[in-house]
Amino acid sequence: MASHSIFFLFLLFLLSSSATALHARASHSSSLSDPSAGSCGYGPMALGFSGGCYVAAASSALYRGGVACGACFQVRCKNMKICRSEGVKVILTDLHGLNDTEWVVSRPAYSAMARPGMAKELRGLGVVDVEYERIPCDYSDRNLSIRVEEKSRRPDRLAFKFLYQGGQTDIVAVEVAKVGSSNWQFMNRVNGPVWSTDRAPAGPLQVRLVVTGGYDGKWVWSQKEVLPAEWRTGSVYDLGVQITDTAKEASSSS
Ligand SMILES: *[C@@H]1O[C@H](CO)[C@@H](O)[C@H](O)[C@H]1NC(C)=O
Ligand SMILES: *[C@@H]1O[C@H](CO)[C@@H](O)[C@H](O)[C@H]1NC(C)=O
Repeated sequence: MASHSIFFLFLLFLLSSSATALHARASHSSSLSDPSAGSCGYGPMALGFSGGCYVAAASSALYRGGVACGACFQVRCKNMKICRSEGVKVILTDLHGLNDTEWVVSRPAYSAMARPGMAKELRGLGVVDVEYERIPCDYSDRNLSIRVEEKSRRPDRLAFKFLYQGGQTDIVAVEVAKVGSSNWQFMNRVNGPVWSTDRAPAGPLQVRLVVTGGYDGKWVWSQKEVLPAEWRTGSVYDLGVQITDTAKEASSSS
């Protein structure tokens, strides 16, 4: 009996130390089918770039002041009578202000968590217990890109938004320099995936950034000129690199 319970404790320890899924509650909202309203500011392009994910809004703890915008998660409803065990993949595009739930997923995402024929029943529940974990975003057919925001004014006022940030990383610093120059100008995070500076050098410009996954940060450099001298607002430019790093630690550490 004693050896059994020790074995059981050991098993429990193994299970709990390898588990990365976190427990939470999730609700759904029809307004999320219009992600242009989302506080990450992705606009209508959010659906097109989400790599097969549904969109979701998170609590402020998960949203992390916008650092988590664009992060991908697997969300599984725990009611196995109604829900499929695989759950759904979502990309974080918005912040919600509800107290009693961590996730508000789009209505199609909520329905997709259900077993065949059970979507209506699941929607009827309104809020369900879920477990979730951060997963790598997969943009294997896209390079990391930036979209120049409307408030930019050539040459010195530059604001852009990151798109197709793959892997399981956070962007924590961004700098721009004239191609060939080592005079890097740092940018500030305005909101979510949007970074800006009022002191951009005249182009053409190269871009470098620091990404973190787990504990370490690393520099990622554009492989070429990113912004031409005549860069334009509303245009999307490609950094010629992909970010595919996954977190070194379980996502529960972040
Ligand atoms: C959330 O919590 C705050 C303070 O605890 C409370 O004042 C507010 O009414 C709550 N909001 C909702 C939507 O429950
Ligand atoms: C990504 O960038 C590399 C290097 O510039 C380029 O060769 C490749 O075609 C780009 N891929 C896509 C999907 O644009």
